[in-house]
Amino acid sequence: MGIDLKSRTIAITGASSGIGKATAIACSRAGMRVIVGARREDELKKVVEAIRAEGGDAAYVVMDVSNPKDNERLVEAAMDHFGSLYSVFANAGYGLERSVLAYTDAELDEMFRVNFWSCLQLMRLTGNMFLKQPPVNGGKRGHILVCSSCVSKIGLPNYAAYSATKSLQDHFARAMRIELADQGVAVSSVHPIGTKTEFFDTAKRLSGGKRISIQTPERFKQPAETVANAIVRCLRKPKGEVWTSFPMRAMLALGTAFPGLADAMMLKRQRQLAEP
Ligand SMILES: NC(=O)c1ccc[n+]([C@@H]2O[C@H](COP(=O)([O-])OP(=O)(O)OC[C@H]3O[C@@H](n4cnc5c(N)ncnc54)[C@H](OP(=O)(O)O)[C@@H]3O)[C@@H](O)[C@H]2O)c1
Repeated sequence: MGIDLKSRTIAITGASSGIGKATAIACSRAGMRVIVGARREDELKKVVEAIRAEGGDAAYVVMDVSNPKDNERLVEAAMDHFGSLYSVFANAGYGLERSVLAYTDAELDEMFRVNFWSCLQLMRLTGNMFLKQPPVNGGKRGHILVCSSCVSKIGLPNYAAYSATKSLQDHFARAMRIELADQGVAVSSVHPIGTKTEFFDTAKRLSGGKRISIQTPERFKQPAETVANAIVRCLRKPKGEVWTSFPMRAMLALGTAFPGLADAMMLKRQRQLAEP
């Protein structure tokens, strides 16, 4: 039950693969109209074709989220194609393994631009737009979701910039959902654990070397569809945070209460990784 998603439009960035693609398909199966954005046009076309083949309604926009104008084009395209926009999922992002001392200024700038600034821009753009819309059934005018991460709750060694961008997304989403709680706009942050997508291959390619950061072991990684289905549930029944692993959530809560313990565990894992 909850909010009827039928014929509502969702715009999703980073939807040419992984979590964004799975979410586009899951939202379409829930009856939503979907507009997908990313840089690889051939992959976006495949997502749109897959949705249309199932009888869904979708369109794509080739975009680079690091260009502020492209977020505006995504929203405009949703209005042009479908005449309305109910939800946005700011999902585009990537990882890069570096020690704090090794990042170049350009690498830091690019990561914060893609993972954080673009997300914040899309949140503000759609937040202002949703406030002007009438509420739909369930009382919401619109729903903003951001793809943060479980690592938003810790400073991950050799992944500090990535975990910082995920933390910033989470902080802004949390503040914004309280600011807008009485105005009918839902804001949710999604916190996937390690997920089987192109993410790790891309991070490895960009980092150009041996793995140096602590990651979810392969056997514990979840399929992208697990995250996508949790997002659809959150669209139907809005809530502040979307988690797909209770053990990880509990472990992170413990790590927040006892940071010394969390640091000691991470140091132990880090030393194991450094062993030849
Ligand atoms: N996989 C995990 O373990 C995990 C865990 C927690 C959180 N996350 C988060 O989940 C989100 C999605 O990642 P994923 O796991 O699904 O990995 P993925 O398969 O690599 O997907 C990343 C998506 O982001 C897009 N993207 C990257 N840079 C972009 C840019 N400048 N402009 C537009 N699109 C861009 C990529 O498309 P193009 O290359 O076509 O542009 C792709 O569609 C990310 O924000 C990531 O931080 C992932």
